[in-house]
Amino acid sequence: MSTANKKNILALSGSVRKGSANERILQHLAAVYADCIDLNVSFDLSVLPHFNPDLAENLPVSVQEFISAVTNADGVIICTPEYVFSIPAVLKNALEWTVATTVFSGKPCAIIVASSLGDKAFESLDLIMKTLIQQELDPQAKVLIQGARSKISAAKEIDTQTTAALDVLMKSLLKQIQ
Ligand SMILES: Cc1cc2nc3c(=O)[nH]c(=O)nc-3n(C[C@H](O)[C@H](O)[C@H](O)COP(=O)(O)O)c2cc1C
Repeated sequence: MSTANKKNILALSGSVRKGSANERILQHLAAVYADCIDLNVSFDLSVLPHFNPDLAENLPVSVQEFISAVTNADGVIICTPEYVFSIPAVLKNALEWTVATTVFSGKPCAIIVASSLGDKAFESLDLIMKTLIQQELDPQAKVLIQGARSKISAAKEIDTQTTAALDVLMKSLLKQIQ
C-alpha cells in the first residue's frame, strides 16, 4: 500500500502500441490527478509469458512482479482497446495469471475501453473483473469510449465529454479506496 497520502494506482494498458490512445488516456489521468495519486503506467503486460496452470506452483519472475504490483496497489485501472471482438490477448493473459490467486479480490478497480466500437470488450472485461474482484463494479467506474483513435491522440487535447466521463470514473475509484 502507499506510504504517503497519495494513493498508489496501478494502470494496465491493453495496448502496447506506441502512440496508443489507451496509453494517452492513462497519461492524462496521471497528470490531472497527480496531486492525489501516483499512477504507475509502466507495467508492460507483453513481458508476461503465456499462462500455463502447470507453472502455478513456481511462477515466472515477471508474473510474480505483476502479482506484487497488483497486491501493492491501492487500486487498479484497466484501459484497453477491443481486438477482434474481445479484450487483447496481452491483457487476457495477464488476468488469467491472477485467476488462481486472490490478488484482485475486493480490490478497488475501474475499467476503460477506448476503441472503435469496443462494446464486446467492455461487456467481457466487466464480467472478468466482476469475477476477479468478487463483486459488481461500480457503474461509475466503467467507461466506454467509442471512436477512440479519431478522438484521442498524443497531438490533441482529449474532448470535454470524455474528460468528464473520466472524472466520474476517477471519483468512483478514489471513493472505493477510502
Ligand atoms: C488486430 C486489431 C483488431 C481490432 N479489432 C477491433 C474490434 O473488434 N472492435 C473495435 O472496436 N476495434 C477494433 N480494432 C481497432 C482498435 O480497437 C482501435 O484502433 C483502438 O483505438 C486501438 O487502441 P490503441 O490506440 O490504444 O492502440 C482493432 C485493431 C486491431 C489492430
